[in-house]
Amino acid sequence: MKHYLDITAIDHVQSWIDQALQLKVDPFQFESLGKKRTLCMLFFNPSLRTRLSTQKAAMNLGMQVMVMNFGSEGWQLEFEDGSIMDAGKAEHIKEAAAVVSQYCDILAIRAFASLTDREQDEAELVLNSFKKYATVPIVNMESATAHPLQALADAITITEFKKVERPKVVLSWAPHPKALPHAVANSFVKMMQLQNVNLVITHPEGYELDPAITKDMSVEYDQQNAFKDADFVYVKNWSSYKNYGKVLSKDKNWMITQQKMQLTNNGKLMHCLPVRRNMVIEDAVLDSDNSIVIEQANNRTFAAQLVLKKLLGRYE
Ligand code: CP
Repeated sequence: MKHYLDITAIDHVQSWIDQALQLKVDPFQFESLGKKRTLCMLFFNPSLRTRLSTQKAAMNLGMQVMVMNFGSEGWQLEFEDGSIMDAGKAEHIKEAAAVVSQYCDILAIRAFASLTDREQDEAELVLNSFKKYATVPIVNMESATAHPLQALADAITITEFKKVERPKVVLSWAPHPKALPHAVANSFVKMMQLQNVNLVITHPEGYELDPAITKDMSVEYDQQNAFKDADFVYVKNWSSYKNYGKVLSKDKNWMITQQKMQLTNNGKLMHCLPVRRNMVIEDAVLDSDNSIVIEQANNRTFAAQLVLKKLLGRYE
């Protein structure tokens, strides 16, 4: 594996999940692997879990870690080839990526979707430009269209908590006051398509995800029908894909409530976090024993650790 940009980098998902669970049992079993190696993390957007879990993962492997809030502290980057840089952008991606590559052995990047320019977002301008001009492996810490570290942690969590061979997993849209990207939902759908699960997607009309990702999956527009007998309810808001980046509904009737969870098969509640309480999910659900959001966030460390371990393999 040269980079970890999307879950397509995973050659055998079940084997990866097993390996991540082994790392969880003994996080320090490869504590010398990353000795004298440096991870550099560049954040164009805020983070709690991704930042700390990836740093912890690197430290578990004995790596040094550098973190930069590029969005607020770095020079504004120019991505266009041949541009005359006479306005606000002080540094070209060609120099930035090449220079950073000299300071680290693995480069991790978070750069969200603009939600204003679908073509540019789908081209993954920031991530792919770093990939083009950097000379070290790149890890996607959530890009415009994908959050593969989250999806790997999600798959690990479902494996840990499932009680039946083929669980029913519901991906439910829930209301949110702001326009959010599709990255988490995209990667979750892709990951579930690789798992032995019965995946059901539910959302209001107009919130259909990229059909290139959902493929021939049908949508259950009745949320309560979708929840019936679910083993897992994965909650996420996203903005419209068709009416790109627009908030079409803030309908509180789509909020996840205890009443809806009672329709499930004693289902577990998942969310990538952060979550707005009593807007997306009501307190009673998040505070219930069926919520596994904290365990899910814990698995971010072992997902990241496995990815870093595999990328460090090139230096052995
Ligand atoms: N789920 C997730 O990526 O969390 P952060 O945005 O806090 O990193």
